[in-house]
Amino acid sequence: MIRILIADDEHSLIEVYKKKLSREGMQVFAATSGKEAISIMRTQNLDVALLDIKLPDIDGIELLKTFKSLQPTAEAIMLTGFGSVETAVKSMKLGAYDYLTKPCKLSELLTVIVKAHEKKQLREKNIILEEQLSRLKFHDTLIGESKAMKEIKETISLVSKSDAPVLILGETGTGKELVARAIHDLSSRSQNPFVIVNASCFQESILESELFGYKRGAFTGATSDKLGLIQIADSGTFFVDEIADMSLPIQAKILRVLETGVFRRLGDTREITVDVRFIFATNKNMEDEIASGRFRRDLFYRLNTFVINIPPLRERKEDIPLLIDYFFNTHLRKNQKKRVSRKALDALKDYDWPGNVRELFNILERAVIVSGDREEIDLQDLPLSLVSSKGIKIHVSQSSEETKLNLREVERKHIEHVLEMTRGNKSKAAKILGISRKRLYNILRNNAVKDCVSNRGLFVSKRNTHTKG
Ligand SMILES: Nc1ncnc2c1ncn2[C@@H]1O[C@H](COP(=O)(O)OP(=O)(O)OP(=O)(O)O)[C@@H](O)[C@H]1O
Ligand SMILES: [Mg+2]
Repeated sequence: MIRILIADDEHSLIEVYKKKLSREGMQVFAATSGKEAISIMRTQNLDVALLDIKLPDIDGIELLKTFKSLQPTAEAIMLTGFGSVETAVKSMKLGAYDYLTKPCKLSELLTVIVKAHEKKQLREKNIILEEQLSRLKFHDTLIGESKAMKEIKETISLVSKSDAPVLILGETGTGKELVARAIHDLSSRSQNPFVIVNASCFQESILESELFGYKRGAFTGATSDKLGLIQIADSGTFFVDEIADMSLPIQAKILRVLETGVFRRLGDTREITVDVRFIFATNKNMEDEIASGRFRRDLFYRLNTFVINIPPLRERKEDIPLLIDYFFNTHLRKNQKKRVSRKALDALKDYDWPGNVRELFNILERAVIVSGDREEIDLQDLPLSLVSSKGIKIHVSQSSEETKLNLREVERKHIEHVLEMTRGNKSKAAKILGISRKRLYNILRNNAVKDCVSNRGLFVSKRNTHTKG
């Protein structure tokens, strides 16, 4: 049944239309003023609206805009008197389906209504198809058919329909950020900002002003207002990575935003309301963090409405071949072909992947370079740490001297090794190391490791100091 609104101040005309359209099986709502029309638009699900261009209390164009914003997929047909054709044309530009000059024949009116209704149905079908397409796209980028990955994909589809906070748990490189993005992309917020902050990358005071912003004069050096990331994420999704690294006072502020949607900039008395969907991630054990008093229990309860636990790669090794295919499909140059030999694949499956998918991709990236023109990637193209699962020690811990290295030194050694491998090509080295070129230059220059690097550095070192057997 077509649900239709007629807004016109000519009572007699409305009565005629209403009777005839009802007889055609339509459900008709009538309004004789703009105010009445808007109230119906707000409360009824409509397919088509017939809007008089000249209502006593509101301009037809304004009414059309309101209708389109309240019911974006519904269609409007403008009713005009003689002399208002120009306005009618303008309304078409603003998204009206058509216009009719009064008085119009009923048959003509019926045809236009039916066509407008068809267009609305088509548009809705399109929206559904687009949604399905984005779902397919997400299945294309979040690779894995293991039971765990299938369940994760189902949970993502489920939580993307709500605004509830989500907590993503998993070791480094398991794809926490990827999952957060997938949730955002599938949600109704997908066209709005997706803002990421990594709590471990900032000192406490800087993190606070990054998150909440400040008012000019809030502290020495605050020479102008600063917009906080939470405000930038308004109407979108805010992904807070490494939440366990947030200080307790910041945790309290985050809890308040979660509970009330309200926060204050530093140095400001005014409250700011935001509509933000929060996603949190950590690779720490939250029970330990709470037990040791480093994380607020109340905040934890608030943010773990939905928990997505991404298992480490070593617990879903059946995903490895799929991830390899995906890597080749997305990372190789045009006309470049690579495949992995049986033996190399066995070695990849044998390894226990402390750096998870990120590490797998780094190793594949390295193997593509090392294998040069050969199409088949073989054992010789994999790092020793991986092939030496039967107990051969790898370069950084070969001598007793080297086993005394601290992590920073191990990291430096590993960087030197990678640079050697890439014959000094820093771009390639940075890619393999999983850090930016700028960061690599910094490390090389300072010979020191800073906070955010040490995180990745640790994992790189771990991989290469890793011995088995
Ligand atoms: N299932 C997957 N399918 C495709 N790519 C993946 C998958 N999981 C992880 N990746 C890729 O691995 C890399 C690391 O993923 P991501 O940054 O999401 O991990 P993370 O868990 O956030 O790591 P960290 O704890 O170090 O921040 C990215 O390049 C990501 O695209
Ligand atoms: Mg991450």
